[in-house]
Amino acid sequence: MTFTAKETTLQSYYAWHARIFDATRWSFLFGRERLLRRVADFGPPKRILEVGCGTGKNLLGMRRLFPLAEITGADLSADMLRVARKKLRNVTLHQLSYNAPICGDFDMVLFSYALTMFHPGWENAIRSAAQDLRPGGLLCVVDFSAAHCRLFRRWMGLNHVRMDARLWPMLRAEFEALVDTSHSAYGGLWHYGMFVGRKKAALGGRS
Ligand SMILES: C[S@@+](CC[C@H](N)C(=O)[O-])C[C@H]1O[C@@H](n2cnc3c(N)ncnc32)[C@H](O)[C@@H]1O
Repeated sequence: MTFTAKETTLQSYYAWHARIFDATRWSFLFGRERLLRRVADFGPPKRILEVGCGTGKNLLGMRRLFPLAEITGADLSADMLRVARKKLRNVTLHQLSYNAPICGDFDMVLFSYALTMFHPGWENAIRSAAQDLRPGGLLCVVDFSAAHCRLFRRWMGLNHVRMDARLWPMLRAEFEALVDTSHSAYGGLWHYGMFVGRKKAALGGRS
């Protein structure tokens, strides 16, 4: 497996952050559990992929919500996956950079606070997810959106996160939106979004 210089930088970042991720991220990665509960309203998916699964918080949540599902997690960082592996059973984990579809047969693909770290590559990742979904499958995203304070945006940039709300127009264009909401955090210091979209049927294809 070979990684780009940018990907190696992210791996080094998470080599240390993997140790404190679960203890710290609950205080700002908002909406993760709420999104999963919204997804459950659409019925239990059979095959699930989480891209950028990190330490496995969502994988564990989905294992509880969807006990019969076949669940796969993929992440760039071996250190994050090591933490995930300790808390999960019956979940397949892969170390990879998500720059191409994996198998094209998932009912649900989740990106949770991952796409805003994919730069370059977020558009390609959304297109790959569309190919990884079977027709009618659900793309689910919870992630940072805009932040108006320049200093805060800069700080997040140092942590490899882009806070420029660029994901949502492409998601709306590529998927049929079922959930599309925006929320503010800490009195408006930043906003985050939740999106659930159904893969559109290909013209002349199955649906
Ligand atoms: C902020 S963490 C979110 C972890 C988890 N989804 C959650 O909500 O707790 C972002 C994760 O995306 C992973 N990541 C970043 N770029 C990636 C890429 N190109 N392919 C796969 N994973 C990637 C990072 O290694 C990291 O574990």
